[in-house]
Amino acid sequence: MSELLRALTGDRPERPPVWFMRQAGRSLPEYRELRVGTRMLDACLTPDLAAEITLQPVRRHGVDAGIFFSDIVVPLRLAGVAVEIEPGRGPVFAEPVRTAADVARLTAIDPAEVAASADPIAEAVRLVVAELGDIPLIGFAGAPFTLAAYLVEGGPSKEHLRARAMMHADPASWHALAGWLARVSSTFLDVQLGAGAVAVQLFDSWAGSLSATDYRTFVAPHSRAALAGVTAPRIHFGVGAGHLLRDLRLDAREYEEEAEAPSVDAVGVDWRTPLDEAAAVLGPDVTVQGNIDPALLRAPWPVLAAHVGDVIRRGRAARAHILNLGHGVPPDTDPAMLTRIVELVHEVDA
Ligand code: CP3
Repeated sequence: MSELLRALTGDRPERPPVWFMRQAGRSLPEYRELRVGTRMLDACLTPDLAAEITLQPVRRHGVDAGIFFSDIVVPLRLAGVAVEIEPGRGPVFAEPVRTAADVARLTAIDPAEVAASADPIAEAVRLVVAELGDIPLIGFAGAPFTLAAYLVEGGPSKEHLRARAMMHADPASWHALAGWLARVSSTFLDVQLGAGAVAVQLFDSWAGSLSATDYRTFVAPHSRAALAGVTAPRIHFGVGAGHLLRDLRLDAREYEEEAEAPSVDAVGVDWRTPLDEAAAVLGPDVTVQGNIDPALLRAPWPVLAAHVGDVIRRGRAARAHILNLGHGVPPDTDPAMLTRIVELVHEVDA
C-alpha cells in the first residue's frame, strides 16, 4: 500500500508522505508554458492538458501523491453555470445567487448533469492514473460553504458576508443551496474515484470565517453529505479554522446521540496551529495533514529546513502525519524549494 494510504488509514509509515496543495500550477515554468493561450477552465476540460499538468509536479518534485489538476468550480461549469476563472482574481459568476428565486433557479438543475458532462474529467483521471503507476492520485471537491461563498458573492470576497448573511436571513434558501452544492461536489468526487483516484480532499478553504455555532448549524451537515457516499479515504481542509478543528472531523458523535466514527480520515491544518496542538484537539482517530508555512518557502534554505523538521517532529503527536503546506503553493515560489523539501523528507526517519 502507498505511504499516503497507509497514513490515511492510521498506520505510521517510516516517514511522512509528502505532497503540496497547488503543486500543479503557476509555480512551475512548464505549467505556464503549457497554459499559454488557454483559459483555466478550458485547460481543466481538456483531458491531455489536465493530465499533463497533474503529472508535472510529480515528475519534477518526486512527491508521494498527485492531486488532480482541476478546480472547485469545474462541476458548476459542468452543470451549466456561467463561471470563469479570472487570472489573479479567482472564480467569477455571471449571475450571483443571492435571492430565494436565484437559489430556486440554480437548484432546479439536476446534479446528475455534472456526471452526464464529466467525460473529459474521467478521461483525464484515467490518463493520469495510467502514468502514475503506484503513486496515488488524490481527487478533490470544494465544500458547500466555500463554493457558496463564491456563488452568493458572484466572485472572490474577503469575509464572505453575503453567504454568511443568507444563513441567518433566509435559512431555507441557504440549506437548499448548500444541500444542492453537496450533491454537486459529491458527484464530482464520484467521477474522479470512478476513474481511478484513490483518496479525496474536501476543500473548505474559507470555513475559517465562520463562527463555530454557524459552522455546526449551517455547514457541517452539508459537508458531511458531500462525503457521505465516499468510501475512499477522505481529507478535510480549512484555512484559519483552528477554532473548528474538532468540527472538521465531521464526527456525528459531536452532534447526535448515536455513536458513529468520524466522517473523515485526515484533517488538513493550516500554518497557524502547531501540529502537536492540533493532534491533541483532534484525538486518536484522525490523521493530520500540514502544515509548512507557505511564507517560509521564500526564507533561506536552512531556515526552511529547520521549520520542516519542526513540523515533522510535531506531527509525530498525531496517529499519522501527511506532510503538506498549511495552504497552497504561492505562485512566485521557487520550485526548487519544493523539490528540496521532498528530498529532505525522503531522508528522514519517522
Ligand atoms: O492543488 C492542485 O495543484 C490541484 C489543482 C487545484 C486548483 N485549484 C488549480 C488552480 C485545486 C485543488 C484547486 C482548488 C481551489 N480552487 C480552491 C481550494 C484550495 C485553496 O487554494 O484554498 C479554491 C479556493 C479555488 C478557487 C480558485 N481557483 C482561486 C482562488 C484561484 C486563484 C486565482 C488566481 O489566479 O490567483 C483559482 C485558479 C486556479 N486554480 C489556478 C490553479 C492552478 C491558477 C490558474 C492560473 O494558472 O491562472
